[in-house]
Amino acid sequence: MTKQEILQYRPSLHFTTKKNWLNDPNGLVYFKGEYHLFYQHNPNENIWGPMHWGHAVSKDLIAWEELEIALYPDEHGTIFSGSTVVDWNNTTGFFPDEPGLVAIFTHHQEASAEIVQKQTQSLAYSKDNGRTWVKYEGNPVLSHASKSDFRDPKVFYDEKTEKWIMSLATSQTISFYSSLNLIDWEFESEFGDNVGSHDGVWECPDLFKLKAEDTEEEKWILIVSIGDNGISNMGSRTQYFVGAFNGSVFTSEHDDIRWLDYGRDNYAGVSFSDIPEEDGRRIYLGWMSNWRYANVVPTDGWRNQMTIPRELRLRNIEGKYKVIQYPVEELTSYFERTVDIQNYEVEPSNPKRIEVNERYVDLFLDIKNDADQFGVTLNHTTAHTTTIEYDALNHVILLNRRNSGNVEFSDMFSTDQELKMSERNHVQLRVIIDKCSIEIFIDDGAYAITSLVYPDETCESITLYSKGGNMTVKNGYVAIPAKNATL
Ligand code: FRU
Repeated sequence: MTKQEILQYRPSLHFTTKKNWLNDPNGLVYFKGEYHLFYQHNPNENIWGPMHWGHAVSKDLIAWEELEIALYPDEHGTIFSGSTVVDWNNTTGFFPDEPGLVAIFTHHQEASAEIVQKQTQSLAYSKDNGRTWVKYEGNPVLSHASKSDFRDPKVFYDEKTEKWIMSLATSQTISFYSSLNLIDWEFESEFGDNVGSHDGVWECPDLFKLKAEDTEEEKWILIVSIGDNGISNMGSRTQYFVGAFNGSVFTSEHDDIRWLDYGRDNYAGVSFSDIPEEDGRRIYLGWMSNWRYANVVPTDGWRNQMTIPRELRLRNIEGKYKVIQYPVEELTSYFERTVDIQNYEVEPSNPKRIEVNERYVDLFLDIKNDADQFGVTLNHTTAHTTTIEYDALNHVILLNRRNSGNVEFSDMFSTDQELKMSERNHVQLRVIIDKCSIEIFIDDGAYAITSLVYPDETCESITLYSKGGNMTVKNGYVAIPAKNATL
């Protein structure tokens, strides 16, 4: 493999492993000035295989340093997804001297001719800021006699009940367990019958509180990823529920399905634990791929990446509470603006082309629309283009990646990604383009479309166009890598 092949599609702002396969983010936690990102990792091959927890740290959520592998398979199985918490009060007894990290993860035994798939929950702890780990000698700490899909524990400390709460993916439901010490777990309740999408297996839950932007009202959010399936043309995807949690039972306040993302490449995302109260953000990141094609995306030597970390907020949109997301503010310092756009009118006969030629780009457009359709073409190269179009006649945003570069490996690249919106003449778009990745945030994060592309270059230029009327960029910018950015 040549250096060129390794670098070809590799993004700068998004976490990738130096070598080989990566999937779900695991054990996201903030501790002593560092954000920790563990992840599903096969260090031996560039496809999914026996899972380990890889490990990286960052001081600002954007520049990551890859460290040694944190957890290796053992006699209980390979290491599937899970979470990490800080045991501030030594509830486990592992930390007589000072607080440390506890990882709660799934041990997985693959089905064979002799055994059915077996999944159990186990612990490991670290006294040196996650650099080395000791597996708990009493592993596993939680198993189930009959459930074979029993995985992805996400744990938090519930101040109200003074208990640890675990959300666990159990086939087509999420089960909740509680514990005083992370070792002994009691079943509390099971959520999910007759609500939400059941198109695929339920995976990677996350339960946390968010305050509404307008009223400061507090709601509990349950994120649930649903695996690939033959039903949807979206492949694997993430939904969420807005509701209440009383320390034991979660109830959803709606029957409609709410998607976290309208693109095909944001899966298995969860949020960071132990972000200090004075920061107060709920920071999330997802695995930027799709089980439909993750094993065959055309990268050499490494495969798949994380999304940009995003701040989650709760917004009342047309009478419904929606979880919205926006790139963390730390991203801003990696860019400098080269083009400012004010009240620029684009006529159908006169598209506006902006030269870019950089390895990553941040594009912001606040648009007043009088056209039937308007859009942005990302000219990665002359031959490779991706289009983001707003169709005002049908109130829909379409992301077209048919000609975006290498698309032959999956037919999921030959159909559009679609977001239906309400009738409007005002649309705000922010687009982060970073080699093989496009992340679109609409209306200050109200909607996200996250999508992979495999062009030869990031972006030579951008074209703004309109059809059947004019569109006006009231306010916008193009930003490129800051001169002092070290990525
Ligand atoms: C989600 C998932 C998890 C599992 C892990 C295995 O993408 O299937 O449910 O723990 O990946 O790698």
